[in-house]
Amino acid sequence: MQIEVSRAQPVDADVDALVIPLAETEQLPRSLGALDAALGGAIRAQLEGGLFGGKAGQVAHLPGGDSAAGRVVLLGLGSEREIDTTTLRRAAGRAVRELRGAKLTSGALLVPAGRRPAHDDAGQALTEGALLGHYRFDRYKTGDDAPPEVDTLRLLVRDARHATAVRRGSKLGAIVGESVCLARDLSNEPGGVATPEHLARQARALAKEAGLRVSVLAERELKQRKMEGILAVGRGSANPPRLLVLEHGRPARGARRRPVIALVGKAITFDSGGISIKPAQAMDEMKHDMSGGAAVLGAMRAIGLLGLPLHVVGIVAAAQNMPDGKAYLPGDIIRASNGKTIEVLNTDAEGRVVLSDALVHAQTFEPDAVIDLATLTGACIVALGHVCAGVMGNDEALIRKLSEAGDRTRERVWQLPLWEEYQKDIKGKVGDIANTGGRAAGTITAGAFLSHFVDAATPWAHIDIAGTAWEGGEEDTSVKGATGFGVRLLLDMLRRWR
Ligand code: BES
Ligand code: MN
Ligand code: ZN
Repeated sequence: MQIEVSRAQPVDADVDALVIPLAETEQLPRSLGALDAALGGAIRAQLEGGLFGGKAGQVAHLPGGDSAAGRVVLLGLGSEREIDTTTLRRAAGRAVRELRGAKLTSGALLVPAGRRPAHDDAGQALTEGALLGHYRFDRYKTGDDAPPEVDTLRLLVRDARHATAVRRGSKLGAIVGESVCLARDLSNEPGGVATPEHLARQARALAKEAGLRVSVLAERELKQRKMEGILAVGRGSANPPRLLVLEHGRPARGARRRPVIALVGKAITFDSGGISIKPAQAMDEMKHDMSGGAAVLGAMRAIGLLGLPLHVVGIVAAAQNMPDGKAYLPGDIIRASNGKTIEVLNTDAEGRVVLSDALVHAQTFEPDAVIDLATLTGACIVALGHVCAGVMGNDEALIRKLSEAGDRTRERVWQLPLWEEYQKDIKGKVGDIANTGGRAAGTITAGAFLSHFVDAATPWAHIDIAGTAWEGGEEDTSVKGATGFGVRLLLDMLRRWR
């Protein structure tokens, strides 16, 4: 779908559907007079007759009358005072879904003229929302029941003074939205296709597209670096593990240092549980267990294309967790690349084991901050549901940055305490650290495990996205399956870094 910003009067938009977002009101806004006249007063009749009042989520399809559009779709935004970027993102998502639902392939969406949000934020939110609402994973559908794609969506700006800002925001929103869709595609791909090597290929391709450095550590390099954690988890699979390293903005020799941010993602391309095998119920969803890595890849693509003035390193620990004659075993002792020994009590607690090596590797870049994203614990879903992710770490300022970015993007995070008291639950009997801490505070003890692989002086935050990485239902900006959670969150934070 192509998204363009154009200056035009709504009544002149020659598209299949013209979408007019409207806040709660009983009166026809003066700016819609000409359009209403072309529709023979149909908009006014909707409003005054109480048929459409602009309530959030309310929709009315009207014939295009004498306007240039095939039809006009009124879209409720809710209370005028509460309109923010989330309102607009959802409205644009809904608009595109209305178009697709009606098998229409060209649309125009009037950019709301209120003072808030700012015009570039509005352009960004509408564009992101449109791309996310348009997204489907239908690569494997062979029937023709899938609705056609929308070819073009025009964002209509009435006032020439605002067009530049809306266009600037829309360009940003397109990069962000497409990068979220990339993360969704990677995560939705079945485990039989999306192997660690497949992710490596995808990483190379996106690095080329976005101008990033990329290196892939295969088994030989992993052994050289004594990364026994990721090697152990991957050992039961016919598809061997990989550590992907992408880099943006490394300063030239002698050039001024930039802030260094490391983004680390868990990418278990399929989590069967290994020898501690999972029950069959919903095991198919474990193809999404690489969503942390997918979010890092999506974010890195956007970071490169946007040319952020930072040195960002993306590290993705990719492995498939399988039971096999060669698989790692409960009771095994693994020496991670920082020399600490991990006592495996449950092979299904594999995410933290691969992350140990990834976090250690991240610190070789001497980062100012390390942020990891992982579908780490079912306990996180018990604690926070599917509404927000859990965050914890060793640096309040970093966590605050993430929470604020979460509030702005609605990829929200909620802090859990990573207090010393939780450490005793993961003390190993034979090794240094056990990879499970029992049922109590399962999300926190997983974070406590990770803390052993991060230097206390390195600001670090861990985001558990087990509850937010995929969706069971349908929303304005997402369908069943991967959400791409984390891409917008990270980008929002990094664009404002320092
Ligand atoms: N990938 C799972 C966590 C998960 C479960 C994410 C459900 C999303 C939905 C992780 O590898 C796992 O299996 N964790 C175990 C840890 C336990 C063995 C300590 C869990 O949560 O049950
Ligand atoms: Mn697991
Ligand atoms: Zn897992």
